[in-house]
Amino acid sequence: KKKLILDVDTGVDDAQAIMVALADPNVEILGITCCFGNTPIENVLKNTLRVLKECNRLDIPVYKGCSQPLLAPRRHAGDYHGKDGMGDVPDPDAPGLELVHKKRGVPAMIKMINQNAGEVSLVATAPLTNLAVAVQLAPNISKNLKALYIMGGNTDSRGNTTVCGEFNFVADPEAAYVVLDRYTCPTYIAPWEFSCRNSLPWSFCEQWLSQCTAKAAFMKNITSLSMKKAQSSDYQKEITEGKGFNSCDTYAAAAAIDDAFITESDEVAVTVELEGKFTRGMMVVDYMEVLKKKHKAFIMKTVDLERMKQMFMNSLK
Ligand code: BDR
Repeated sequence: KKKLILDVDTGVDDAQAIMVALADPNVEILGITCCFGNTPIENVLKNTLRVLKECNRLDIPVYKGCSQPLLAPRRHAGDYHGKDGMGDVPDPDAPGLELVHKKRGVPAMIKMINQNAGEVSLVATAPLTNLAVAVQLAPNISKNLKALYIMGGNTDSRGNTTVCGEFNFVADPEAAYVVLDRYTCPTYIAPWEFSCRNSLPWSFCEQWLSQCTAKAAFMKNITSLSMKKAQSSDYQKEITEGKGFNSCDTYAAAAAIDDAFITESDEVAVTVELEGKFTRGMMVVDYMEVLKKKHKAFIMKTVDLERMKQMFMNSLK
């Protein structure tokens, strides 16, 4: 089985990524570490537990990680994900925070990686704060990870949060910088524009959500707000070339689950702009090798969307 750690800020698309990973019989999720991000950490924890409850997998440990960025002011993405971070459709029977593991997220992450050295991959779909703190505390995790899959950053200055910044990187630019600088394991990045270009058609989404299962009803509920936003945004329509719905975080999870998912990528060094007045938090892609960085990342360009559709369908069965 593929061993995975998920680092999330659940979030509608984090929920989709978690459910896709849970549905794969060849995947073992060792634990889920939570970070502030789409919504404050308490909501992230609650949302993550809600997803696990829906999938009958509350046996997977959920850890509380960082509640704020290293230096940047804290920001969230309530406009898109809803005030509670998951579509503002509360569940009165949602599990309580007493189910959150006693161990804190960063030490738990370090322990899971070191105890499974060379065998475990990490899927990061939140601001990279937990990963940055972890590698500062335990630099050896960088080589003990089998691979790192990140949803974050942008490649052609078309942000979704600031003028040219993508949310996960802008929410903690220093953390993103540290992670891209210190993790030497194979690193795969699913940037914002890539996810837009590889959107799933709306017609498929209808089919996906109209399955007659409790999981489909749950997913339909939590995604309705963000789908409406996406469908009514001119920017979103333009950047996805009218193609449909981009579940950003699920690309990172899908790549970790299925080695054949990525069909084309660029192997190139990346870093993050920390100072620009307009560009702080933007991913810098060193195509000309000016920075002479030894470690390169794989930036996803195209993926097998038929495989992704299958994963989406399975996740709600
Ligand atoms: C990323 O930011 C968040 O809003 C999403 O969950 C995703 O991780 C997209 O920029």
